[in-house]
Amino acid sequence: MTLRTVILGTGSALPTRRVSNDELAETVDTSHDWIVERTGIHFRHIAGEGETTASLGAEASRRALEAAGVDATEIGLIVLATSTPDQTFPASATLIQAELGIDDCTAFDVQAVCSGFLYALSVADNMIKGGVAQKALVIGSETFSRILDWEDRGTCVLFGDGAGAVVLGAEEGDRGILASKLHADGRQNQLLYVDGGPSTTQTVGKLRMQGREVFRHAVVNLSAVMTETLEAAGLGSDAVDWVIPHQANKRILDATAKKLGLAPERVIVTVDQHANTSAASVPLALDTAVRDGRIRRGDLLVLEAMGGGFTWGASVVRY
Ligand code: UT7
Repeated sequence: MTLRTVILGTGSALPTRRVSNDELAETVDTSHDWIVERTGIHFRHIAGEGETTASLGAEASRRALEAAGVDATEIGLIVLATSTPDQTFPASATLIQAELGIDDCTAFDVQAVCSGFLYALSVADNMIKGGVAQKALVIGSETFSRILDWEDRGTCVLFGDGAGAVVLGAEEGDRGILASKLHADGRQNQLLYVDGGPSTTQTVGKLRMQGREVFRHAVVNLSAVMTETLEAAGLGSDAVDWVIPHQANKRILDATAKKLGLAPERVIVTVDQHANTSAASVPLALDTAVRDGRIRRGDLLVLEAMGGGFTWGASVVRY
C-alpha cells in the first residue's frame, strides 16, 4: 500500500462587499457587456476595512477544519499561498496560526502568484509524506484589490479578493494526491508583475499585465501541464471527473478544456462570481463544488493554475 496525502475537508471565505460590473463602471471606463464578453466575470468581492489576507485565510481554515472534523491543535503544518500578505514579514501563515490558537507548528508562506495554491499543495504533500506533519492546512488567500491600479481598466476589472483552504491528512490507499507537476519560466517576468517591492522601490507596487500575451501562454502551458500530470498518474483525460482550474478568464477555461477534449460541464467555473482571486481561486472553486454536491468522494480531480513568473502547475487528486 502507498501512503498518500488526502484532502479531509475544504473551506472558503469571501469579503462581505460584492461588486457588480455596473457598479465598477460608475468609476472605471468600462461596461458590463465588455467584461462579460471578454472574461465571463459578473461579480467580485472586495475586502473592506479589517478584512485582510490573514483574516480571510483564518476564516476559510476554520470552515475547512470543521468540514474535516479536525481540531486546530492537530495541525502540524500551515502553508499559505499568497502574493498579498498582511505584512512583508512575518509570514501571514503565522498570523493565521495565532488566530487559530495553534501554539506550535511549522508555518510559512509560498509565493507563486496565481499558481501559489498548486505550489503550496505540492510542498505540503511532500512534507506530509516526508513525516514532517500528519495533518496540514494549505490555504490560498489574497486581497489583490489592494495592489490594483484602479485607473487601469485593463487589469482592475479582472480581480477579486477571497480565500480557500484544505485540511490534508495521510492515508494508505488509492485516494489522495496521485501526481503533481510544477513549472516556472522567469524569462516571462515582465508580462505579469508588480511594479514595486521592499528591495527595489520600498513600496508595495501595483499589478501590471500584458493580458493578451498572458492569455496566449496560459492556454498552451495549462493544457501541457494537465496532460503531463495525468500521464504521471497513469491516467488519460477520459478518467477526469472534474477540472478545478485557476479562475482567470472563462475564455481560458473553455479553450483549455477544448484542447484536452474535456466536456465543458466537467469544468468547475466560479470566475463569474469571484473574478480572479489569484492563489485563492482553485481552493475557492474546489470548496464551492464540494459544498454544492458536485464533487463526491472517489471523484478524480485535476487542479491547475498559471500565473506571474510565469509559474504553472497541476495536481491529479482522487478526492
Ligand atoms: O491570473 C493570471 C493569469 N491572467 C490571465 O490569465 C489574464 C489573461 N488575459 C486575459 O484574460 C485577457 O487578455 C484580458 C481579459 C485581460 C483582455 O482581453 P483581450 O480580449 O485580450 O482584450 P485586449 O487587451 O486586447 O483589449 C481589447 C480592447 C482594447 O481596445 P482597442 O485597443 O481594441 O480599442 C482595450 O483598450 O478592449 C479595451 N479594453 C477595455 N474596454 C472596456 C481593455 N480593458 C477594457 C475594459 N473595458 N475593462
